[in-house]
Amino acid sequence: MEFETKVISADRQEEAGTTLGASIIRSGGIVAFPTETVYGLGANGLDGEAVNKIFEAKGRPNDNPLILHISKKSDLKKLWAHVPDRAIPLIETFWPGPLTLIFHKADIVPYEVTAGLDTVAVRMPSDKTARLLISKSGVPIAAPSANRSGKPSPTSAEHVLEDMDGKIPLILDGGRCKYGVESTVLSLIGEPTILRPGAITREMLEAVIGPVRLAPSILKPLREGEVAASPGMKYKHYAPDAQVVVIDGTPENISRCVISLYYEKVESGLSVEVLSTRQTRSRYRGIPNTLIGDRENPETMCANLFRLLREIGADCDMILAEGIGTSEEGLAYMNRLLRAAGFERIDADEYVKKID
Ligand code: TXA
Ligand code: MG
Repeated sequence: MEFETKVISADRQEEAGTTLGASIIRSGGIVAFPTETVYGLGANGLDGEAVNKIFEAKGRPNDNPLILHISKKSDLKKLWAHVPDRAIPLIETFWPGPLTLIFHKADIVPYEVTAGLDTVAVRMPSDKTARLLISKSGVPIAAPSANRSGKPSPTSAEHVLEDMDGKIPLILDGGRCKYGVESTVLSLIGEPTILRPGAITREMLEAVIGPVRLAPSILKPLREGEVAASPGMKYKHYAPDAQVVVIDGTPENISRCVISLYYEKVESGLSVEVLSTRQTRSRYRGIPNTLIGDRENPETMCANLFRLLREIGADCDMILAEGIGTSEEGLAYMNRLLRAAGFERIDADEYVKKID
């Protein structure tokens, strides 16, 4: 182990924690910190050598670019070649918050951050500890989610410690993340395009700048030879230790399908866990299940998804999880869940027809 990883509570020692964190960042080290979406693993975003340490700690392929985090809107100007007109109302409306914007990079942004691209992703988090850390560091902080590459993103300091113990010197503990899924990533190169859905939905963006496209790979795997608009989308993602299977359809058919699959898998010797929703829970009498949220408020499901994939995925062979279709509000949830499942999805409506 290279480091004795220290965890400092932002609640009780925010000033001391962020001061120590900033001194580590300034001297070229890496620090994990809370944001309103998920925990980030940060380094000085203007120092290519420091940024390389992030890729090493995560085991991240180095063709997958990072997001630069800033603490005030005016810092954007140094990082982009220029600020396009349509970025301004977006920044005024959604920053600070879970929206990442991509545009042409300025020369000071090292290619280690952008993985060789001439564009750079920037966001201004709303989390207070994150902003304090960035402003005390005096540099933009390059930060991906603080998980080992391929694992679910961490939404608590304990989850960061699970993946990063001994690999980094410091974790700032800000408690559970509010949103639980990563920021919406919007490219402003050409037609505005959502590369990764998040809490800021297409509808919300369109209300401000008009038509916004969705990258085709949001809900499906890339085909052989297809180029990812966002390099991160081509990798296996968010996979817990257990196998995840998505069951989608009407709540009634989902629960019938889940019950039937549950007994089938248990009989074949697997230990199976079910993620239920407010709409299906009462149907699972006798089947152990954990409530993930309310289908009518997908953000409640987003807030618990990564946490439950980690916590439940550690103790079973298979997780049966509900899909919520592909409506706009559910997009962030389905994007993560389908990736965690390696796109293994069962159509409950079809399934029930067969067993009826
Ligand atoms: O909420 C978040 O965005 C969290 C917190 C820590 O801020 N960060 C995060 O970073 O999720 P990461 O590295 O796990 O995801 C960044 C995503 C990846 O899918 C990456 O490929 C994409 O953004 N990305 C970054 N720069 C890009 C660029 N120049 N062009 C296209 N995609 C880019
Ligand atoms: Mg990530």
